[in-house]
Amino acid sequence: MTPRQIVILGTGGTIAGRAARPADNIGYTAAQVGIDQLLAAIPALAESGPLVTEQVAQLDSKDMSFAVWAQLAARVSHFLARPEVQGIVITHGTDTLEETAYFLQAVCQPAKPVVLACAMRPATALAPDGPQNLLDAVSVARHAGAQGVVAVCAGTIHSAWDVQKIHPYRLDAFSSGDAGPIGYVEEGRLRLLRNWPLAQSGQAQAAIKNIANMLSDDDWPRVEIIMSYAGASGAIVEALQAQGVQGLVVAATGNGTVHCALEAALRQAQAGGVKVVRATRCANGRVLPLPGSVLADSEGLSPVKARVALMLDLLRSRT
Ligand code: SIN
Repeated sequence: MTPRQIVILGTGGTIAGRAARPADNIGYTAAQVGIDQLLAAIPALAESGPLVTEQVAQLDSKDMSFAVWAQLAARVSHFLARPEVQGIVITHGTDTLEETAYFLQAVCQPAKPVVLACAMRPATALAPDGPQNLLDAVSVARHAGAQGVVAVCAGTIHSAWDVQKIHPYRLDAFSSGDAGPIGYVEEGRLRLLRNWPLAQSGQAQAAIKNIANMLSDDDWPRVEIIMSYAGASGAIVEALQAQGVQGLVVAATGNGTVHCALEAALRQAQAGGVKVVRATRCANGRVLPLPGSVLADSEGLSPVKARVALMLDLLRSRT
């Protein structure tokens, strides 16, 4: 059977980064090399079947904006709807990759694979990791039965729900925590350990239509993340409430506990109409709900993903 198209959308990141010296793996500028130039350096990619490329953005992912997310969701949805497209690969910086992955999964819930590819070393490095990661991502996108938003890094496939950057330097910088990875890519073949993220494309179209029109960051609900720690107070909550914040995610200690002074302010904010969600600041595990908890928990989402989920909830309640 003739292989169908894989669409590769470029958004920047270290995978497209350039340093002045090949031996420099950290003093580089992200998002310098265009998607076509990146692909030209990996001849094996073209051998795998037809590819279509598009540069959707060119940024360091620490500067990710809602406007770029809106554009990305629109382009992903456009290409997913084309029967000749088998899957999508998105090149992305590692720093906010987990937020984009969660956002795209929550909004698109795709029945085809959408694979985020990244790198910890710039394209100019002595031994860049981007080319292998990109090749692996295309193998995942071409895999029969693959679906949903996933990330591929250092030969490991992570689900959008679980993926988290856990290391600022090592090539294997991501983890799926307690859930474990979906599987591994080994010499272009997949060794799968668990199911792909669920697809529910029916609901997705309305959400994408809504979001595609929101090109200004001011159109999005304001949701902030605050942390509970020794000596915390309610001052930040009060300041944010005065500025009209609509949602707050608290990165709580342990099993969702919050410093009493901060908790009092959060309860007051909630009574005043601000949506409040507790996530744990622990790297692994989730908040196990106790009966009678006044503040909702994030149902296993990390603080940054709980923020995206709360923004999407607030958007839905607008319509
Ligand atoms: C970025 O997130 O765009 C820069 C860092 C990286 O990709 O590793």
